[in-house]
Amino acid sequence: MAGMTVEGPSIDPSRPSIARVYDYLLGGKDNYAADREVGDVFKRDLPGSVAIAFANRAALTRAVAEIATTTGIRQFVDLGSGLPTADNVHQVAQRHAPGSRVVYVDIDPQVLVHGRALLEQNERTRVVRADVRDPEGVHDHPDTQELIDFDRPVAVMFSAILHHVNDEEDPAGIVRYWRDRVPSGSYFFVSHFRSGNNPETAEAERVLQQTFGRGRWRTDKEIESLLDGLEILDPGIVPASLWRPETVDSPWGDNGSVQELTVWQRLIAAGLARKA
Ligand SMILES: C[S@@+](CC[C@H](N)C(=O)[O-])C[C@H]1O[C@@H](n2cnc3c(N)ncnc32)[C@H](O)[C@@H]1O
Repeated sequence: MAGMTVEGPSIDPSRPSIARVYDYLLGGKDNYAADREVGDVFKRDLPGSVAIAFANRAALTRAVAEIATTTGIRQFVDLGSGLPTADNVHQVAQRHAPGSRVVYVDIDPQVLVHGRALLEQNERTRVVRADVRDPEGVHDHPDTQELIDFDRPVAVMFSAILHHVNDEEDPAGIVRYWRDRVPSGSYFFVSHFRSGNNPETAEAERVLQQTFGRGRWRTDKEIESLLDGLEILDPGIVPASLWRPETVDSPWGDNGSVQELTVWQRLIAAGLARKA
């Protein structure tokens, strides 16, 4: 499958998609009745769904701003990028470092269609439809090869994607693949659903897995082990709302000013690592 774009069904409005349900939770308009139905179940039964989505997006935005302002990295691969929303990775990166290049990768056909229309605003941004579980296919894709210079440090973003990858699909191997292909000084961002032994969140995990038929929430230790061989930077793997909250650069509001996080806000963890 190396070097190939994913072929597959075209957009099916009758079945909920991860990308569109997430878009609905973020307040977007790129979703259908089937997605809103699932989103409404989340909102009703898992009252923190919207807060989780916002906390995640805010942490991603802060991480991109940090990378663009504190390192010389000017190229990003955003794996499982989702539908275009407010302040996408290239907008944040290019605001701080105008020359930044971004390859967005998602398996959802709608992300390709809407992404091409809304994200490919300049020659420094590409949207690739591919499966992150086939890292070679993503890496070897002509658009990735055209935009990303793998001899220079790269930021590889795994934002809210690895919890959609089952254990037997080797999420650590996916991260390792990228680690082995980027030079020293490259950064890795990860945000990930955290499993705790809390009955409320166990139910949330069950509903999500049942809805999409896949995925695995992980403990902080398990999330850390996905970043094996990389140096995890301060403050480590922490609730996304507490990940460098002082870097306020986000339309998502959540800047970690909340002292007491709810059980829901604690559900999503974030961390940044560097290849030595
Ligand atoms: C929860 S959204 C996260 C979006 C964005 N990264 C963020 O953090 O805001 C997860 C995205 O991963 C995509 N996705 C799920 N499985 C995938 C796979 N195997 N390959 C590529 N994309 C995938 C979904 O289509 C969806 O757009």
